Amino acid sequence: MTTTVRHFLRDDDISPQEQAEILDRAAAIKSRPFSDRTLEGPQVVAVLFDKQTLRTQVSFAAAIAHLGGFPLVIDGKLAQVGVRESIADVARVLTREATAIVWRTYGQERIEEMAAHSSVPVVNALTDEFHPCQILADLLTIKEHKGRLAGLSFAYVGDGANNMSHSYLLGMAMSGLHVRIGTPATYQPHPSVLARARALAAETGGSVTIVEDPAEAVAGVDVVATDTWVSMGFEKEKESRQGSTSPFARYAVSAELMALAASDAIFLHCLPAYRGFEVDASVIDGPQSVVWDESENRLHAQKAVLSWLVEKSGGDRR
Ligand code: CP
Repeated sequence: MTTTVRHFLRDDDISPQEQAEILDRAAAIKSRPFSDRTLEGPQVVAVLFDKQTLRTQVSFAAAIAHLGGFPLVIDGKLAQVGVRESIADVARVLTREATAIVWRTYGQERIEEMAAHSSVPVVNALTDEFHPCQILADLLTIKEHKGRLAGLSFAYVGDGANNMSHSYLLGMAMSGLHVRIGTPATYQPHPSVLARARALAAETGGSVTIVEDPAEAVAGVDVVATDTWVSMGFEKEKESRQGSTSPFARYAVSAELMALAASDAIFLHCLPAYRGFEVDASVIDGPQSVVWDESENRLHAQKAVLSWLVEKSGGDRR
């Protein structure tokens, strides 16, 4: 019997049922951190970074070690994937020695190329278009604090065209949340992602709404989220995005904006955060913020997704 290799390149590479299964696995792993030894050997997981990181490197390295494996962290500046040699050749090399490949890179087409030539699972650790591992951690955090996912209302305010917006649209709609994106008309999500999110929401009982008014976006919601206005890769636009004429200025999560959400709403931010820009210190450091739980949950969610992908792909190298 042949087994199809499963990859996690974007949020909708898994079904709603599979997402729920992975989140249940993450919760179980969190309660018994060393119970899953899927990577025992130790089996190697190649973890490549073409962009800056703190949380993703730490949480994947810890996750792989906890699963009994060895995290082989590769600096993208040394490997120069796609420059020194083709993405396909890198995939062929890594596949012979690693049980899985985790990659933070630029365009989504790069990680798709890696997956196309890999016989082991490839995991997206952030691309310009998506950040699916972050959304699993966010969903785990919401479930811990709210006790459920389906039927909750969620608002993301800020850059509607960035990777977090896209992954929130897909990942939250997949869990049956009512997703609202508050963003300027000139920073709309990609139409294909929006269409896919709406199709998922129709399947799960959730909904997707895009508005320009940040107050309308957060009104009465259970969860408020934002992200930096200068995503990795957009550093050249820092002045126009973060300066005095920033199109995102009115989307900053101030105490006043947060007060429009439900009184027991929680606040999420994938971090790193820039206080005084996309969020005020009084919110991110205040009682409704759950960002440190969210950050820790990267570890538990990634242990779950790695062990699940390896199991489904029949990829145990022992
Ligand atoms: N949230 C997140 O991906 O953090 P890093 O960029 O520090 O890895």
